[in-house]
Amino acid sequence: MIRPIVMHPDPRLKKPCAPVAAVTDEVRVLGGDMLATMYAAPGIGLAAPQVGVLLRVIVMDCVKGADATPRPMVLLNPEVIWSSEEVNTYDEGCLSIPDQYADVTRPKVVTVRWMDLDGATQEETFDGLWATCVQHEIDHLNGKLFIDYLGPLKRQMITRRMEKWKRERAREQV
Ligand code: NI
Repeated sequence: MIRPIVMHPDPRLKKPCAPVAAVTDEVRVLGGDMLATMYAAPGIGLAAPQVGVLLRVIVMDCVKGADATPRPMVLLNPEVIWSSEEVNTYDEGCLSIPDQYADVTRPKVVTVRWMDLDGATQEETFDGLWATCVQHEIDHLNGKLFIDYLGPLKRQMITRRMEKWKRERAREQV
């Protein structure tokens, strides 16, 4: 089931999320819904607070190209356990901040540990777009958005654009 995406600015996007204690049916449904919501958007990553659930769950699939085999991933309680000195700059966007993009510099390679939907611990080293995406999504679980890496003027400009967009959208829906 596709869930509505929470749009910035919203207090739910600024809160630290609680760890997942156990893989329940509710968590499995959440993971599936988040993947469906991400693919429909379309996007390459989504964090639970973006569908209004304040739990440490992210989904991603950074496989590119229509002919490529998709790799849907659901990560519970993900944490970066190693990051490279080498950095990478990407023009990032966010499904909660549509049509707004900005360069963000992050470690180029990260090793992440998480729990999968079978309750098993997984560990993987991500590079390039996957590394950027997983760090962006983990930030969401700590109430941090990519615009928080920008200077205050750029951040305020994007936030004001989003407030205006939300007002206009609210009017259209009346
Ligand atoms: Ni995002």
